[in-house]
Amino acid sequence: MSGLEALHATALAMVAPGRGILAADESNATMTKRLEAVGVESTEETRRHFRELLVSTPGAEEHISGVILYDETIRQQSADGRPFCELLSERGMVPGIKVDTGAKPLAGAEGEKVTEGLDGLRERLEEYYEMGARFAKWRAVIAIDDVLPSTYCIDVNAHALARYAALCQEAGIVPIVEPEVLMDGTHSIDRAEEVTLATLRAVFAALLDQRVALEGMILKPNMVLSGTDAPQQGSIEEVAERTLTLFRQVVPAAVPGIAFLSGGQSDELASAHLSAMNALGNVPWELSFSYGRALQATPLEAWSGDEAKEPDAQKAFAHRARCNGEARYGRYTEELEQSLAA
Ligand code: 13P
Repeated sequence: MSGLEALHATALAMVAPGRGILAADESNATMTKRLEAVGVESTEETRRHFRELLVSTPGAEEHISGVILYDETIRQQSADGRPFCELLSERGMVPGIKVDTGAKPLAGAEGEKVTEGLDGLRERLEEYYEMGARFAKWRAVIAIDDVLPSTYCIDVNAHALARYAALCQEAGIVPIVEPEVLMDGTHSIDRAEEVTLATLRAVFAALLDQRVALEGMILKPNMVLSGTDAPQQGSIEEVAERTLTLFRQVVPAAVPGIAFLSGGQSDELASAHLSAMNALGNVPWELSFSYGRALQATPLEAWSGDEAKEPDAQKAFAHRARCNGEARYGRYTEELEQSLAA
């Protein structure tokens, strides 16, 4: 198999029908916030423990195709001494790794950020590949307000995403290219659409300029949504239609799959939007998920550090994975959502 064929095969496995990706790659600072919110002290061990609990959920592999790990986690082992990459590979889930080092203030652009992590990336990717990682993630963030984002911010982030993606492919690792237009704010769905279009145009121009093979990558975008505090929210159907209409205009058909982020949507809306898009269909790419909060929030709360609650937490995780797995076929329903309680 050529290098590109191997990348393409991995990308297809990541967006296999009925399955999607668990983003469990929170930095220690973010994970600390999440754990403390449910009354758990954040230590190397509690972070490891919660992540092992998720990935060892019976049947998780039915709906989870891959897991994005954080640098700390990829170096950790399960309670019985197996590295996380091995735990995942054994059950047919592709191990992935977050490789950016975070979004930092962008010089000369008040309120905007640029994602860092290119220095030394070639060597880090080699090491992660040795450990078993077969895909990576880099997240750029684009904020919206009355004047933002600047073209400058979009361009530097697109350029960095493409540099990262090219280095990943050189290392035999599939890049998840994640330009996230944030939901925070009062902006309208029209404005979200306009900014998402400008961002994706710049990202694909940079990817092509930098010779990234589109067949060997996955796009991880936001859906087209009104701002969280906007007076008017689009209906589920409107979000699905607008997102797909926009993506048809700007995402080349050579990209094997689009794995949406949840971005702070409720668990239910994240599933409902994905399902509505798959029900509309008629697109050249797989429409999948790569959710963090929308897969983990309920199990984390159910666990809250209590050993006796671990089966409940795994049940909650399996339920969310199943809801999103069904959404891949456009089959997520209110009834399915309620079936856990039954
Ligand atoms: P959310 O689904 O919580 O937005 O997280 C996905 C992710 O990996 C962000 O980089």
